[in-house]
Amino acid sequence: MKRCLNEMKLSFPARGENEAFARACVSAFIAQLDPYVSELAELKTAVSEAVTNAIVHGYRGRRDGIITMQVRLCSDRRVYIRIRDKGCGIADITQAMQPLFTTAPEEERAGLGFSVMESFTDSLRVKSSRGRGTSLVMEKTLRERSGDESVKDGVSNKSGRKSGTGSPLR
Ligand SMILES: Nc1ncnc2c1ncn2[C@@H]1O[C@H](COP(=O)(O)OP(=O)(O)O)[C@@H](O)[C@H]1O
Ligand SMILES: [Mg+2]
Repeated sequence: MKRCLNEMKLSFPARGENEAFARACVSAFIAQLDPYVSELAELKTAVSEAVTNAIVHGYRGRRDGIITMQVRLCSDRRVYIRIRDKGCGIADITQAMQPLFTTAPEEERAGLGFSVMESFTDSLRVKSSRGRGTSLVMEKTLRERSGDESVKDGVSNKSGRKSGTGSPLR
């Protein structure tokens, strides 16, 4: 891992309203790397899934549980996000990470949270112990900026060159 450019750590209670708060904080912090809109949207969605899991599964609706979120920005444009709870923990991580697996079908959970986190990041690592909580780390390397301000999502720029998907965040 390359040099750490900046880092933040945040703790907040496991309340539904803090899911949007966590998304907004991550977005504001990562903005300094000048990500593409699509990359930012993916990371915000991954964070939402992780925080929602901590709220609904980890603490099972107990509003006094604390969630901690740590974000590190590295010189190679890698974003490291760790989200932890001290809730009930996961009995079988391999099973929990299977697409469509959920322990809360009665709440109409789709069982796709981990799949979304995996597909929107480069790596996802989950550690958990029963009765002690869950810690997950997601990493994603942001694409280099082209420096061409005319680049838009999947749209050719003035030179006619396709410059990847995602428009710069401005
Ligand atoms: N932080 C957590 N604490 C305890 N259990 C968790 C946590 N995160 C996920 N799980 C378990 O993993 C399962 C799968 O999670 P996920 O893929 O997000 O699907 P869903 O949230 O729709 O059930 C959950 O149903 C739950 O049993
Ligand atoms: Mg989920």
